[in-house]
Amino acid sequence: MTEHTAQDPAASSAAITFPEGFLWGASTASFQIEGSTTADGRTDSIWDVLCRKPGAVANADTGDPAADHYRRVSEDVALMADLGLATYRFSVAWPRVRPDGGSVNQRGLDFYRGLVDELLERDIVPWITLYHWDLPQALEERGGWTNRDTAYRFAEYADTVVTALGDRVPYWTTLNEPFCAAFLGYASGEHAPGRTEPDAAVAAVHHLLVAHGLGTALIRARRPDVKLGITLNPAPIVPADPDDPVDVAAARRVDLVRNRVFLDPLFRGEYPEDAHTQFDQFGFSELVRDGDLKLISQPIDLLGVNFYHDEVVSGHGGTEAPSLDGRPTPLVGAAPFSNPERDLPRTAMGWPVDPRGLTDLLLRLHREYPGVPLYVTENGAAYLDTVAEDGQVHDEDRTRYLDGHLRAVHDAIEQGVDLRGYCCWSLLDNFEWAWGYDQRFGVVHVDYKTQERTVKDSGRFFARVIKANGIPG
Ligand code: NOJ
Repeated sequence: MTEHTAQDPAASSAAITFPEGFLWGASTASFQIEGSTTADGRTDSIWDVLCRKPGAVANADTGDPAADHYRRVSEDVALMADLGLATYRFSVAWPRVRPDGGSVNQRGLDFYRGLVDELLERDIVPWITLYHWDLPQALEERGGWTNRDTAYRFAEYADTVVTALGDRVPYWTTLNEPFCAAFLGYASGEHAPGRTEPDAAVAAVHHLLVAHGLGTALIRARRPDVKLGITLNPAPIVPADPDDPVDVAAARRVDLVRNRVFLDPLFRGEYPEDAHTQFDQFGFSELVRDGDLKLISQPIDLLGVNFYHDEVVSGHGGTEAPSLDGRPTPLVGAAPFSNPERDLPRTAMGWPVDPRGLTDLLLRLHREYPGVPLYVTENGAAYLDTVAEDGQVHDEDRTRYLDGHLRAVHDAIEQGVDLRGYCCWSLLDNFEWAWGYDQRFGVVHVDYKTQERTVKDSGRFFARVIKANGIPG
C-alpha cells in the first residue's frame, strides 16, 4: 500500500531530459484497432462474442471497423515514423494466428510478418504483446482461463509467433494486464467473456500466470537473445485515512487483488498469505500445483507497467458491486469498500488525474520488487476530442496529462528507479472495450466514418518530447 509522497509534477514547467537511450514509443492492441474481424481465416475471439450481447458494449459497438488498421497498416507505420517513435508496442491476435485455438493460419501470421517488415524498414523497434485479451472463443467454450489447458494452448500459440518473428522482434511481453483478463472478465463481467463467477476469476488468475510461465520458458528456449517480460497494471492503493485501521484494512484487500496477487508470485515465487485467506473460499489454493510457482517466477528481463490513475479506498460504506473498468476494484470475497470523492480533475472516463501516483508506484515497485528493469508500457487519457474548424485537434487536457506523467516518470528515475522506456496509450483512437468508440485515447484522431487520421496537438507534443529526449523548456 502507498501513501502519496511524490512532489506534484504538474507544478513544474522546467525542462527535463531523460537518460540516453530511453525508449520512446506508443502502444495499441489487436482487437482495439485492427477491424477486419473475419478476414483471412480469423475466427471469433471472446470479445467478438461479448460485443453481440445486448447491453454489453456502449452503442452496441463491435471490433469492426475499429481503426481499420488491418488494411491501413502502411499508412499507420508512416504515421509512427512521422511522430519519431523508436518502438511500437502492438499485440498479435491469437484468433488470427491459431484460429479456434487450433492449427496455424499462415495468412494471419503474414499480417504480422508484414507489419514487422514495415516497422524495421522505418527503424522502429517492434515490441510484441502475445495476449491482449482476445482469447479464441473456441477456447472459452472449453472453459477459457478457468481451464488450465488454456495455458498450454497459450504456450503453443507463443511458439508459433516466436518461431515466425523472434529473429526480428527484440521485445516480447507474454500477457497484458492479467488483472483485467481475470477480474473484469470473470468476476465483474464487464469485460469478455462477461462471466460473474468469483471462483472462475481466481482460477483465471492462476492459469494466466501459469500461461506466462509456460510462455516464458518456451520463448527463452527458442530465442535466448530477446528481452522478455509481462505487463501488469499495478496501481497505488491509498487508504482514505492512513490512521484509520478500517480504511487501511480495506486498502490492503484491494491491494491484494490489484497488485500483490500478481507481483508476489512473479517476483517472490509465492502467493501472499492473504491470497489464500481471501480467495480460498473460491478454491484458490487447490489450483496451485507443485512446480507452478517456480515456473511463474522464472527471471524475466522487464516488467511493463500500465498506469492510468491511483485509487483511494475507504473501508466505510460502499459496495462490492463492481462497475465499469474496475471502479471499484472487484474484490472477490472481501468486505465492502468505497472510493471517496476527491478534488481532482477527471478524464472522460471519470478517472482522477494525479501524476504523483505514477512516481509513488514506480518507487514502490523498485523498493519492494527490486532488480527488474521497468518500462511504462501504457499511460494516457481519454477526452472527448473533436476536429476543430482549422482541421486540428486541440487536446490541451491530454497534453497536460502527458506532461505531468512524464515529469512523474522523470522524478522516479531521479530517485533511482531503473525505468528504461515509456509508451503512450495510444497511438490511435480505438475500441475502448465496454465503452466502445466513445472514449478516445489516441494521440492521433481517427474519424471512424472516413478513417482519416489527424495528429492531435498532444501527438505533436509527444513527437517534440521524443525528439528532445525530454520536455523542452
Ligand atoms: C489498459 C489496456 O491495456 C488498454 O487495452 C485500454 O484501452 C487502456 N487500459 C485504457 O483503458
